Amino acid sequence: MNLTIISGSHRSNSQSARISHIMKKRVEELSLFDEVNVLDLANNPLPLWDESIWEGSDEWKALLAPWRATLKASDAFIVVTPEWHGMVPAALKNFFLIFGAIQLGHKPALITSISSNIGGTYPVQELRSSSYKNNRICYIPEHLILRNVESLLTGENSEEDKYYSARIDYNLNLLTEYSKGLALVRNSGAVDHKTWPNGM
Ligand SMILES: Cc1cc2nc3c(=O)[nH]c(=O)nc-3n(C[C@H](O)[C@H](O)[C@H](O)COP(=O)(O)O)c2cc1C
Repeated sequence: MNLTIISGSHRSNSQSARISHIMKKRVEELSLFDEVNVLDLANNPLPLWDESIWEGSDEWKALLAPWRATLKASDAFIVVTPEWHGMVPAALKNFFLIFGAIQLGHKPALITSISSNIGGTYPVQELRSSSYKNNRICYIPEHLILRNVESLLTGENSEEDKYYSARIDYNLNLLTEYSKGLALVRNSGAVDHKTWPNGM
């Protein structure tokens, strides 16, 4: 079973990337998945979606090949997103325009929202309401909101670190079980995206 962590901030040296790598390390310590990859949207490695992607442009194909391979081989995802003006960053919306059901469909995903202050709720609502329709990613009912993220999991506040570490472990374990469960759905033969390519 493979896990891919998508770091949704397009800032270099982002807190999203720091948290993504902390979670990757923890998944490895707990031996929850065979392989864990972090796909970092820092510095916009994916250009803005344009129509030539649907026409099978060679440039897009070459650029996306390694991303598509990693995502397709994943059984679960963690989507780490900061709150930017009450929204998820544009690079993350672009990610959901580019990748679809072949890579993400019927696979569980853990939303991890971060804020340098006391925000972080809006990105959870945004992802849950508008990022899954055609790609059929399955957000699990638990999610994480990491507030005051700059000092979190740095050793500055050991009580807080203890609480969030335990909560992260709980979510990672749940995600692992959902990944086993949803593999059964994908292998059942019930999924039919040829007849029903888009969600309603
Ligand atoms: C453009 C921009 C807008 C932001 N808007 C919000 C916001 O609406 N709510 C909030 O809690 N934090 C906001 N922040 C602060 C972020 O939560 C904080 O900078 C966080 O570390 C960003 O994550 P990143 O380092 O992964 O990009 C904003 C930051 C940026 C750069």
